Amino acid sequence: MSLVNEIEPLKHAALSDLKAAPDMGGLEQAKGTWIGPHGRFTALMKQLGTLPKEERPTAGKLINAAKVELESALTARRDELEQKAALPTEPTDFTLPGRRRPVGKNHPLTQVTDDIVRAFRKIGFVVADGPEIEDDFHCFDALNTPPDHPARDSQDTFYLASDAAGSKPYLLRTHTSSVQIRVMRSQPPPIRIIAPGRVYRRDNADATHNPTFHQIEGLYVDRGVTVGDLKGTVEFVFKELMGSDVKLRFRPHYFSYTEPSLEIDFTNSLVKKLGKDWLEIAGCGMVHPQVFENVGYDPEVWTGWAFGFGIERIAMLRYGVNDIRLFYENDIRFLSQF
Ligand code: DAH
Repeated sequence: MSLVNEIEPLKHAALSDLKAAPDMGGLEQAKGTWIGPHGRFTALMKQLGTLPKEERPTAGKLINAAKVELESALTARRDELEQKAALPTEPTDFTLPGRRRPVGKNHPLTQVTDDIVRAFRKIGFVVADGPEIEDDFHCFDALNTPPDHPARDSQDTFYLASDAAGSKPYLLRTHTSSVQIRVMRSQPPPIRIIAPGRVYRRDNADATHNPTFHQIEGLYVDRGVTVGDLKGTVEFVFKELMGSDVKLRFRPHYFSYTEPSLEIDFTNSLVKKLGKDWLEIAGCGMVHPQVFENVGYDPEVWTGWAFGFGIERIAMLRYGVNDIRLFYENDIRFLSQF
């Protein structure tokens, strides 16, 4: 049989061998048998040189075409076997529930802050902001707090080293009241702002204290503002936050930036559950005329009130949390409850 006549039968045998390979090992073996260096089809190609010159081009063409066919059969079978190997060996139950990813949410302190802000927005307040690294002027002097006031003591406040030129000392703000000064110095009245944010005190951490915590400041400046406006506003917000059984009590107090100054006590069923009659919740008062002078407002024209309260305090009350430190531990078992 001439070489040319051998091509077709050999090709067919090789093709059926390749297509029938049961697995990768079998396929490699078939490849070796037919088109490897010592394969039978390869041997046929090697004989090409023994043909008479005029027969070579025809035979060469046929052999090459057959080889292309064999190689594509090899690739096709390899793809097929790979796909088969990738299929799951066990049947899949598509009715099983999916895997749930844990969904994050806001920290309880952020949730409470958002709720407070939402309540104030309803009655026309906007959010203001100020830096946590403050100076003496905004944190104390402008708020009519004298240099010998205990709040300014290095035992109570975190001071930052001043630069080589001996500039005035910076400190970590001890309250959000500094934002009052920043806002009043940047715009004329009327003003209706709240300023939530982090504050710092040199306190040792225990169940009710932490060196950093959060406050929310409020400031309202206009003509003819009264303590009645203050009481009405605070009552509205606390009822929004804690429910309609809230009762508030205002007691005389002293702050250097308000006159008169008051402290707000709070009670509702939660407070009663704690075995207490009242819980002190905020400081407030009518803005001191000296503070208006310090920011360039005429105290004969402008009146206003201000308040500040601790956000942790409210969150603890609202959620029945008995240790403030839990808010800062980032323990997911705690946080996921809110
Ligand atoms: N700054 C006070 C504090 O940290 C709270 C406070 C009291 C804020 C009276 C005020 C205010 O704006 O009028 O304890």
